Amino acid sequence: MEKSAMSRRVAIKNTGKAAAVFGAGLVPGVSLKQNSAVFSENELKGKVAIVTGARNNLGRGYAVAFGAAGANVVVHHHKPDSRDQAEETASLVEKAGGKAAIAVGDLGQLSNIEKLFDTAIDQFGRVDILVNNAGQIVKKPLSEVTEEEYDRLANINSKGTFFCMREASRRLADNGRIINIGTTLFGKLTPNYSAYAGTKAGMEEYARALAREVGGRGITVNVVCPGPIDTPFFHSQEPPGAAAYVAKFSVAQRIGEISDVVPLVSFLASERSQWLTGQTFWVNGGYYSR
Ligand SMILES: NC(=O)c1ccc[n+]([C@@H]2O[C@H](COP(=O)([O-])OP(=O)(O)OC[C@H]3O[C@@H](n4cnc5c(N)ncnc54)[C@H](OP(=O)(O)O)[C@@H]3O)[C@@H](O)[C@H]2O)c1
Repeated sequence: MEKSAMSRRVAIKNTGKAAAVFGAGLVPGVSLKQNSAVFSENELKGKVAIVTGARNNLGRGYAVAFGAAGANVVVHHHKPDSRDQAEETASLVEKAGGKAAIAVGDLGQLSNIEKLFDTAIDQFGRVDILVNNAGQIVKKPLSEVTEEEYDRLANINSKGTFFCMREASRRLADNGRIINIGTTLFGKLTPNYSAYAGTKAGMEEYARALAREVGGRGITVNVVCPGPIDTPFFHSQEPPGAAAYVAKFSVAQRIGEISDVVPLVSFLASERSQWLTGQTFWVNGGYYSR
């Protein structure tokens, strides 16, 4: 991994520094004044956000940015053994200025989705923002994908996302926000990601339909599609050198960072994004455009 990426990753894992990076919603290489545009002060005060799969990485980035804007955040994590990481995210949310609660569970099971929303209502009295960030990946040729792998991916990437959206459509307050995290692969002819991108692809259609169904209440529904991001999720599927290879496809000749994606998700979570709904946004440094 290139050195600067490594040092930023370390910063994300370090409690104090992460609050400094995300606490101010800061984007590396951008001045403090420009960065203040990510969120205005206390912009999410009184709002309640659920971020799924937020024990670390991108989910943590969204959760802490929301906390920095004054939100109450439900930090969801998948399995009981990642409780420590979820607590670290929650602590970063609180250091950044928000309040945090934790919920656990496999979101392929409807009962866990209901409990997740119950946690938000019980702890904070309402839900305003849902970020459907949880997901799983397998990289292999379609001819080699097993039934177990397909079912496991579909369970969270498709079913989990769908029913989190259904629950949100029932429980979000007026002017709420639903943000699904997709992938730039939706737009590219890339081999070996059929099960991953295919099981996620439905979220675009879910978003377009739901945007119409709940738009009258001021709720917006959008899809954010990152390109390759420097997290273990990406590296787990790729051979050494893959990051350097995909870096060539961005205009800046680098792989994406968590802090490249957080500002867009933050904006979509804010009331300023009211006119944006039913859309898919590419956030990939020019890796792909349509
Ligand atoms: N990194 C990239 O290059 C990239 C690019 C485009 C899009 N994305 C998307 O961004 C999102 C976050 O990715 P990331 O890079 O931050 O990786 P990550 O930290 O692994 O995020 C995925 C999260 O989803 C959770 N999860 C998986 N299966 C679940 C289930 N059945 N129920 C509940 N939670 C479940 C994982 O928990 P466990 O790990 O504990 O199972 C993990 O916390 C994913 O949806 C991914 O598709 C990532």
